[in-house]
Amino acid sequence: MKIAMVGAGYVGLVSGACFADFGHEVVCIDKDPEKIARLNAGKMPIFEPGLEELVESNVRGGRLSFSTDLTASLAGACAIFIAVGTPSRRGDGHADLSFVYAVAQEIGPHLEANAVVVTKSTVPVGTGDEVERILRESGVQHRFAVVSNPEFLREGAAIGDFKRPDRIVIGADDEFGRQIMREVYRPLFLNQAPLLFTSRRSAELIKYAANAFLATKIMFINEMADLCEKVGADVQDVSRGIGLDNRIGSKFLHAGPGYGGSCFPKDTLALLKTAEDYDSPTRIVEAVVKANDSRKRAMGRKVIEALGGIDEARGKRAALLGLTFKPNTDDMRDSPSLAIAQTLIDAGVEVTAYDPEGMDLAAPMLPEVGMKPDLYAAVEGADAVVLVTEWDAFRALDFRRIAQTARGKAFIDLRNVYDPAVVRAAGFDYTSIGRA
Ligand code: UGA
Repeated sequence: MKIAMVGAGYVGLVSGACFADFGHEVVCIDKDPEKIARLNAGKMPIFEPGLEELVESNVRGGRLSFSTDLTASLAGACAIFIAVGTPSRRGDGHADLSFVYAVAQEIGPHLEANAVVVTKSTVPVGTGDEVERILRESGVQHRFAVVSNPEFLREGAAIGDFKRPDRIVIGADDEFGRQIMREVYRPLFLNQAPLLFTSRRSAELIKYAANAFLATKIMFINEMADLCEKVGADVQDVSRGIGLDNRIGSKFLHAGPGYGGSCFPKDTLALLKTAEDYDSPTRIVEAVVKANDSRKRAMGRKVIEALGGIDEARGKRAALLGLTFKPNTDDMRDSPSLAIAQTLIDAGVEVTAYDPEGMDLAAPMLPEVGMKPDLYAAVEGADAVVLVTEWDAFRALDFRRIAQTARGKAFIDLRNVYDPAVVRAAGFDYTSIGRA
């Protein structure tokens, strides 16, 4: 089966490579000639474990190719996936759908009979209807279908998530669309991945509801962590104690500096916008967005506190270990490290940092932060060491070496990676999240 994947970003590239690995013939199309040239030379535009090898083997097997030519790539394609970006529209937080609609306009005149156009980009309710309208308006007369197939993969674990999904959601309003999508995902039947067929609008909403619910879970445990600090409880125990209840579940109950990335911040805002447009307030999500925004700055203040308070902190130095919004990615979008670094800089604290993969993207976003080539260079002369992102490389730190290199003894663990007793025994003043 031939698949055209429009957009070679995170979702498009990973999905395209995985579909090719299942045996489909896939062409990934992107408007950016530089990106396509690099992909053709075997260079990945993003850091994602396993992706380079997966792309390389499928290109070699003749199942995966890259092109800038959308029209030519449509020939013989049964399924055309739209996987372009839907960033937050400046000003109102609504998802910017201009890229999605531009693709629909471009596809229209060349769409072959019996092809299915699939929106994989995260798009607000009703986008599928508009895509269908654009296609009809461009003169498509033969049979086609527009289907919603949201993607739930996580950065850093993208290939595993795509190949072993908890569920595949397909929003199709007619049997023809459902039939083609069954063929597209047939290779996953072996893994017994549940295929959930819904209406197109329900599928579109499922994606936002899932991300908003996960964001809510994170912020719930973060607020419990704050309460734990006040009442002398331990959030790790509270998290385990509630997570063992199957109705709650243990995942996404890890307290931290707030959520970041390319999805939760943007998708929660877009959901609020949809709710406002339909006059159906989602007050819980509103509170989550607000709580997350203020939490990131509060984490900066936590470091200032560990440096002795606002007056003492001025002129001192903090070393940030990890800058990306989570490990195993180079993605800096909405990373808590941005707000933490800025809060420290505003308070007159000098900031150094090291991240295993994120520094190229981080450096222009944090021009006042001293980027260091390794973690021990970053902690040199630091009054406070702050663990911001839980990379594996920071899970077994040599505290003796840090103690020799750093100037001060403050260690702030924003991911609760360490046992407080161990870090304190190494001579540090240890602060973490939600642990008295
Ligand atoms: C998220 C969803 O998990 C995916 O299912 C979804 O497909 C994706 O968005 C998307 O819409 O494209 P991702 O943004 O890659 O995936 O990252 P997550 O692993 O979900 O983490 C998001 C943020 O939440 C990170 O900043 C992470 O540190 C934070 N988090 C996560 C916590 O603070 N605590 C947790 O327990 C879990």
